Amino acid sequence: MVAKLPYSQKLLDHFQHPHNVGEIENADGIGELTSDVCGDLTVVYISVKDDRIVDIKFKTFGCAAAIASSSILTDMALGKMLDEALRITDMDIVKAMDNGIPKEKIHCSVLAADALHQAITNYRSKDSKDREATFV
Ligand code: FES
Repeated sequence: MVAKLPYSQKLLDHFQHPHNVGEIENADGIGELTSDVCGDLTVVYISVKDDRIVDIKFKTFGCAAAIASSSILTDMALGKMLDEALRITDMDIVKAMDNGIPKEKIHCSVLAADALHQAITNYRSKDSKDREATFV
């Protein structure tokens, strides 16, 4: 008898065949976050054009749920305006995984969402510095 995993098929598919894995050289924004809960690490790289995410990659050193969450997150964020991408929450990621993630693993999806938000904040802080520099 095969034990039933507490994960949805969609989560398992993204874990086994993650999308958008890797790094963007000269990324416009980088978000790097370690989970307070377990110490797992996610890094999200974004390229931005006219306030839209035109490329996104991730690297995650963590559990199956963290890898699947990052993969789904990058699919959700690609092509979105930055303000829209900032509104992606951990619960959106959970829904996109057909709610197939146990409660004790919700922090894995929080890690992915927070890393994206940090990458956008990083991009915007660089962008505003560039603008300041233009006026100096
Ligand atoms: S157990 Fe650490 S992110 Fe999943």
